Amino acid sequence: MQIIVLFLNDYVFEQCKGCQRQFASNYSYISSDLSLSSSPISSFSFRTMSTATVTPDLTESSSVLSASTVFYFLLIPAVLLWYAYWYISRRHMLELAEKIPGPKGYPIIGNALEFLGTSPQIFKNVYSKSYEFGTTVKLWAGPKLLIFLTDPRDVEIILSSHVHIDKAPEYRFFKPWLGDGLLISTGQKWRAHRKLIAPTFHLNVLKSFIDLFNANSREVVQKLKKEIGKEFDCHDYMSEATVEMLLETAMGVSKKTQDQSGYAYAKAVMEMCDILHLRHTKVWLRPDLIFNMTTYAKYQEKLLNTIHSLTRKVIKKKRADFDKGVRGSTAEVPEDAKTKNYEKNVSSKTVVEGLSYGQSAGLKDDLDVDEDVGEKKRMAFLDLMIEASQNGVVINDEEIKEQVDTIMFEGHDTTAAGSSFFLCMMGVHQHIQDKVIEELDGIFGDSDRPATFADTLEMKYLERCLMETLRMYPPVPIIARQINQDIKLASENYTLPAGATVIIGTFKIHRLPSVYPNPDKYDPDNFLPERTANRHYYSFIPFSAGPRSCVGRKYAMLKLKILLSTILRNYRIISDLQEKDFQLQADIILKRAEGFKVRLEPRKPMAKAH
Ligand code: HEM
Repeated sequence: MQIIVLFLNDYVFEQCKGCQRQFASNYSYISSDLSLSSSPISSFSFRTMSTATVTPDLTESSSVLSASTVFYFLLIPAVLLWYAYWYISRRHMLELAEKIPGPKGYPIIGNALEFLGTSPQIFKNVYSKSYEFGTTVKLWAGPKLLIFLTDPRDVEIILSSHVHIDKAPEYRFFKPWLGDGLLISTGQKWRAHRKLIAPTFHLNVLKSFIDLFNANSREVVQKLKKEIGKEFDCHDYMSEATVEMLLETAMGVSKKTQDQSGYAYAKAVMEMCDILHLRHTKVWLRPDLIFNMTTYAKYQEKLLNTIHSLTRKVIKKKRADFDKGVRGSTAEVPEDAKTKNYEKNVSSKTVVEGLSYGQSAGLKDDLDVDEDVGEKKRMAFLDLMIEASQNGVVINDEEIKEQVDTIMFEGHDTTAAGSSFFLCMMGVHQHIQDKVIEELDGIFGDSDRPATFADTLEMKYLERCLMETLRMYPPVPIIARQINQDIKLASENYTLPAGATVIIGTFKIHRLPSVYPNPDKYDPDNFLPERTANRHYYSFIPFSAGPRSCVGRKYAMLKLKILLSTILRNYRIISDLQEKDFQLQADIILKRAEGFKVRLEPRKPMAKAH
């Protein structure tokens, strides 16, 4: 019976996507009001639908076989056939899944009950339960098989592969927002666009953003003045700053292009992530058919309107600049934020103590191309997109919009979380903050000059603190892939069946006691060269790794170093809460449910206002 229902569930929701409207109208009696969530988005309800009145026609009831008899007569063999098809197509998966350990599930819903409750409760529950098992754990989300991997040797098999690069079907909830952008696209489209986009985050391009990173960081310092002495949520400031920096650098338009603040966009993104997280964890919200009947769908539409209106404005502005022959960023940099007078010898060195922009120098990807790139490839992201689209062959207008949405999202929310966790860590661990401050004073003295590229290479201790923050609080806590062929694991004698979703548990990998002794202790020395040298490369993967690694890794590291050093050159951070008080939630991006609460003390005279 369970099998038949599972099959029907699969059939109705997966096979019959095209018939969803029809299905909805047939089931027009659904009008229940289910309040399910305590997420920031307040209420959830099915939209009331009109009730259809069916008037049976009794005049032909005397015929030999009634229509309903024929219907049931045909339905039974059809169901049996479906069952046979379902059983045969899934038997292989079920047999292999059976051998993999995991919590006991229930008929039909599998382990869906593990995902009940609020976001922080789900995170706590799933994380603590995972310790009852080894490094490979299976869960059933209804009919969907999820396999969690946390052994770096197994993770390497997936992430280093050029075959297992398809995103899990769960990423489809991003589609109305990000379309077929780099994060979710696959196959030839992904390959072609990755090849186009990766060079726009080459170090040569990033170096041209340094003045804008400085100018925007100084503005944050000015804005933070009003918070001195009070407890406040630093994430609000970090998300606004990271949106505005993206606009002025990768998009190359002034932040004044938008009429709302960067924060309005960032807030809409956060709420979108809440909705997506609900759809990931509440299995009944997965089918579009049901989701579209909830008030969430309406709210999602509103949020997407805010998000997409910024994207449209940015592209329109860039196109207009392009038509006027203007290339590069049109954002203004105040004279005192320019580094040209301070940058003595622009170093070509990029590896600091065995680390290269957020990963072990032993790991290489398509961002690590050292050869001098041609003039054309040295353009910033949106400039290159517009230029490539002029003939419409490589990328068309709709695809540009999808990529801009993707970079705007991936590029701001991750770094906002990373920088907020960093500030909280400084606030909690005062003696570590002392050492960062000592390093910065050693580099800058009492000067308020902007930070140069060479300075960022001198920020070795700050970099270790940043790495340790990304280890303990990776902004992307899990990565999910769809596997299309069986995969034999390296760590144990298990084979992952084709059709399963593999979930790489970055958060847990980063806290493996076998790799990081005392894993819950914030210890920047975990990133001393002698400690990193002997670690498995795939035991530290905040930016993922391999062909589908984060395209913004170097951008993120450079920006974070300038932003965070500028803040710490001006303020001391204080936290009244300890790490044990943090309530973590993983709504796509890892966050603190109670907000990133810190206090500030001015450390020395403010950087000059501009
Ligand atoms: C601390 C900051 C960041 C972290 C921790 C981070 C982490 C990640 C991770 C783990 C992935 C792989 C996701 C997956 O496979 O599901 C990813 C992909 C991606 N990231 Fe980042 N990211 C950061 C910053 C950025 C920035 C600044 C940008 C752009 C400016 C960016 C753009 C992207 C894009 C486009 C992808 C998809 C790449 C592909 O599939 O080819 N990220 N990021």
